[in-house]
Amino acid sequence: MELKLSKMIDEQQLSERIKQLGKDITDKFQGEDLIAICVLKGSFMFFADLIREVDLDLTCEFFGVSSYEGTSSSGEVRVTLDLNHTMEGKNVLLIEDIVDTGLTMNYLKRTIESRKPKSLTTCSLLLKPEALKEECHVDMVGFEIKNQFVVGYGLDYEGYYRNLPYIAQAENLN
Ligand code: IMP
Repeated sequence: MELKLSKMIDEQQLSERIKQLGKDITDKFQGEDLIAICVLKGSFMFFADLIREVDLDLTCEFFGVSSYEGTSSSGEVRVTLDLNHTMEGKNVLLIEDIVDTGLTMNYLKRTIESRKPKSLTTCSLLLKPEALKEECHVDMVGFEIKNQFVVGYGLDYEGYYRNLPYIAQAENLN
């Protein structure tokens, strides 16, 4: 894979912001139990770093969805790995890598709400406000970015670049 990459959010910025998000989550759910959901594949790295900054009793669940082909959302969300534990009556924290058109996040919210949790809190490392195609409220956002395609720190281009330890803007995509 040969893309022109320019670093956008470095390791230090990621770590500082994630520490703060971890504190916010710890404060919000003080004295409560939590189910943290990792949305695969893109949020695995963010999820792993974030939950280590959360000082609470929590369990982890993994939900696989796919909507992207190349660099644009297909608009159709496909479940690749379903949740197999009940969410009913539980505090759920949904952890996403990026909200672009908002279609995936809204789909995830609808799916989890239908399982009747006690509460649902959404957290996304990145949000592209200019790319939203439908209204999409996210409770906790790491960074707002421009409408540009990014890779690294779990985010991919055709499966590659997930292992970069930072977020980079990708150019020369074709
Ligand atoms: P949405 O449904 O358009 O909001 O897209 C959400 C999903 O598309 C994310 O969970 C990512 O997997 C993927 N995605 C959106 N923007 C980017 C990007 O800039 N780089 C890599 N993947 C992206």
